[in-house]
Amino acid sequence: MPPLPSPRAATVYLVGAGPGEADLLTVRAARLIAAADVAVYDNLVGPDVLALIPATTQRIYVGKKAGNHALPQEEINRLLVNLAREGKTVIRLKGGDPYIFGRGGEEILELVEAGVPFEVVPGVTAAAGAAAYAGIPLTHREIARTCTFATGHFQDGTCDLDWPALARPGQTLVIYMGISALPTIARELCAHGLPTNTPAAVVRHATLADQRCIAADIAELPAAVAAAGIKPPALLIIGEVVRLRERLNWFKPD
Ligand SMILES: C[S@@+](CC[C@H](N)C(=O)[O-])C[C@H]1O[C@@H](n2cnc3c(N)ncnc32)[C@H](O)[C@@H]1O
Repeated sequence: MPPLPSPRAATVYLVGAGPGEADLLTVRAARLIAAADVAVYDNLVGPDVLALIPATTQRIYVGKKAGNHALPQEEINRLLVNLAREGKTVIRLKGGDPYIFGRGGEEILELVEAGVPFEVVPGVTAAAGAAAYAGIPLTHREIARTCTFATGHFQDGTCDLDWPALARPGQTLVIYMGISALPTIARELCAHGLPTNTPAAVVRHATLADQRCIAADIAELPAAVAAAGIKPPALLIIGEVVRLRERLNWFKPD
């Protein structure tokens, strides 16, 4: 493997930590975790990934849970700029991929404004992790030619997704942060023409030893998920590809 460039001081590395399982980190991410002076991380970074941060590295938790921000986004942005200006090698660890529903772009724009050097390292996004570990290919010939990633986190309680487009057949829909709004999502999709017997699944803690997957027809899924007591973080996958799970599910954690 050719050598990767060494981490530089006074630089911020925005790094995707993947969906939780530490073995799914990129080699670049693992090297940066080992070399950084300070690690700034969110609540979705898995414990096995955090365990790779050397004891001598400064750790700063800025995690957020829905509606409960440990640090406001503007303060996180400022923190990154200040740490870099102190000459530190900063790793900014985010769950999944930093540019997929991760507000990574906002943080990098702030660094650009401040003239702070940066690098972005992609991570395995939750959709890819859940697909692989729950046995649900997101595209499949003759079943799904399109795959859409959407957020189910509605800022002001309104649903402003393009429901007619999302309800069209022949595609896979992956919804991040959609567990609280699952009853609304299922109702709107069916009201806009999605057949009520379309297979769907919720995957919680994808790739981790306590991964859970609840699959049901979309019309039945909200009740099944409520009965199973599934809480975030979990991903919603809707489409005919979910049927493949019966044959492709290989991950059987103890
Ligand atoms: C703020 S978004 C961050 C997404 C992240 N940047 C990514 O690329 O996966 C948080 C949402 O991602 C999903 N998510 C993240 N990690 C997950 C996991 N291990 N299993 C299932 N869903 C996950 C959940 O829908 C969660 O509410």
